[in-house]
Amino acid sequence: MAEHISISNISKYAGQNVTLRGWVYNRTDKGKLCFLLVRDGSGFAQCVAFKGDLEPEVFDKTMRLPQESAIIVSGLVREDQRAPGIPGGYELGIKQIEIVQEAELDYPMSLKDHGVDFALDHRHLWIRMQSQWAILRVRAAVMSATREWLNNNGFFEMSTPILTPAAAEGTTTLFETEYFDEGKAYLAQTGQLYNEANIFSFGKVYCFGPTFRAEKSKTRRHLTEFWMLEPEIAFCDLDQLMEIEENMIAHIAQTVLKECAAELKFLGRDASKLERVFAPFPRMSYDDAAKYLIDLYEKETDPERKALLKFEWGMDFGAPHETELTKLYDQPLFVYGYPSAVKAFYMEPWPDRPEVCKSVDLLAPEGYGEICGGSERISNHDALLARIHKEGLPEEAFKWYLELRKYGSVPHSGFGMGVERVVAWLCGIEHIREAIPFPRTIKRVYP
Ligand code: 4AD
Ligand code: MG
Repeated sequence: MAEHISISNISKYAGQNVTLRGWVYNRTDKGKLCFLLVRDGSGFAQCVAFKGDLEPEVFDKTMRLPQESAIIVSGLVREDQRAPGIPGGYELGIKQIEIVQEAELDYPMSLKDHGVDFALDHRHLWIRMQSQWAILRVRAAVMSATREWLNNNGFFEMSTPILTPAAAEGTTTLFETEYFDEGKAYLAQTGQLYNEANIFSFGKVYCFGPTFRAEKSKTRRHLTEFWMLEPEIAFCDLDQLMEIEENMIAHIAQTVLKECAAELKFLGRDASKLERVFAPFPRMSYDDAAKYLIDLYEKETDPERKALLKFEWGMDFGAPHETELTKLYDQPLFVYGYPSAVKAFYMEPWPDRPEVCKSVDLLAPEGYGEICGGSERISNHDALLARIHKEGLPEEAFKWYLELRKYGSVPHSGFGMGVERVVAWLCGIEHIREAIPFPRTIKRVYP
C-alpha cells in the first residue's frame, strides 16, 4: 500500500500514490464515476472511483457505500480546483478500496438540515459534520495558540482545583455537592483565587480548564460548563494587564487566521474582519461608555428599542449595550473602571473613587460582547477583609486567601478568557453551544 497521509497535507502529494484512512461523508454517483467525500479527522477530500479501475464487485460495493462507512483508499492525488473538501482543490483517483466497516443504513445525521434540538441530542454524531468539525478545529487552534503565547512569554501553567470550599464569583451561580464529613463543596467558578497564591511562588501563571456556573440565563452566550483561560501576574497593574490581554488575543486571532484559513472559509467567515485584530485595542472608561449609552437611550424614538437600551450609571451592560459600544470600533474594545457594585469582591478600588474598581472587560466586535473579564486585585489585607464582610462571604473559607496579603503582598492583576466566546467570535457563529464538543446548558446534560 502507498504511504498513509493526512488530508490536511494532500496538496504536498499531487502526482503521487497515497493511502487515506477515514469515513465516507457523502457519496454521489454519475454513471461510471462514484464520488466519495472522505473525511479523515484532518480534513475532507474528494475521492473518485472509476468503474474501469476497480473489480466490478468492488465498484458495485463502493456505489452502495452508506454514509459514515469506514474505509481505507489508495490512489493517485490530482490537483483540481473544482474538487470540494477542506482544504479542497485536490482529489484522489481510487485504485484500491478496503471497507473497514459498512455503516448501518439508518445514520441519523444525514446531510440535510436538522432542528437544533435533534442536532444537540445527536451531538456525538453531529461533531462529524463539516461545519461542526471546522468550528472545533478552530477551537483547538485557539487553545494551542493561547498556550503558545503564554508559554513563550514567561507564564507557567498551573492546575487549580475544581472542588472548592467557597464562592468566588457570586453565590447565585454555584453548583454544590456534599463533600464527605466536610460539609458542602462547590464546583469552581474560577481558578483565580488559587492563581493568586501561585503567583507568589511563580510570578506569572495561568490555569486553563473547565469552569462551572449554574447560570439561570438562557442566552446564546452562556453555558453551565465552559472553558476559561486565566492568567495571573504579580507586580502588574491594570494598564499592564490590558497590554498582556491585547497581545495575547491578537496572537490568537492571527494564528487562527493562518492555521484555519480553510475552516474559516468553509464557515463563510469574513477574514478581513479578523485581519484588523492587532494590538493596541481601543480603551474606553466605563464613565464614557455610560455617557454614550445614556445619550443613545435618550435619543432613541422606537419604544421597543428604547426599552432594550435603557441605561443609567451604575448598571452592568446588557448584550444590546455591549453591541452598541462595539459598533464604534472594528477592533475588540476594552472598557475599564466599572462600578464596584456590579463586579466581584476582590477587585481593587479606584484611588479616591471607591464606588469604581480597577476592572476591565474586553468586548469583541460585531456584537459578540464580553470575551475577557479581569481586574487588579485588592492587595491590602484589611481592605480585602472589609469587602469579604460587606459581601457577607464566609471569612473562614477565605482565611488562606487573606493570608496571601500578609506575606509579601504586591499589586497584581489577572483576567479570564472564555474559550467558547472567543471561538464563536472568530468563527462568526450565532451560539456558543457549537463552540464546545459537548455543551452543557440549564436544559442539557445529554449526551
Ligand atoms: O468575567 P468572569 O466571570 O471573570 C472571572 O471569573 C474572573 N475570576 C476571571 C479572572 O480574572 N481570572 O468570566 C471570565 C470570562 C468572561 O469574560 C466570559 O468570556 C467567560 O469567562 N464566561 C462564560 N462563558 C460561557 N458561559 C458562561 N456562563 C460564562 N461566564 C463567563
Ligand atoms: Mg465578566
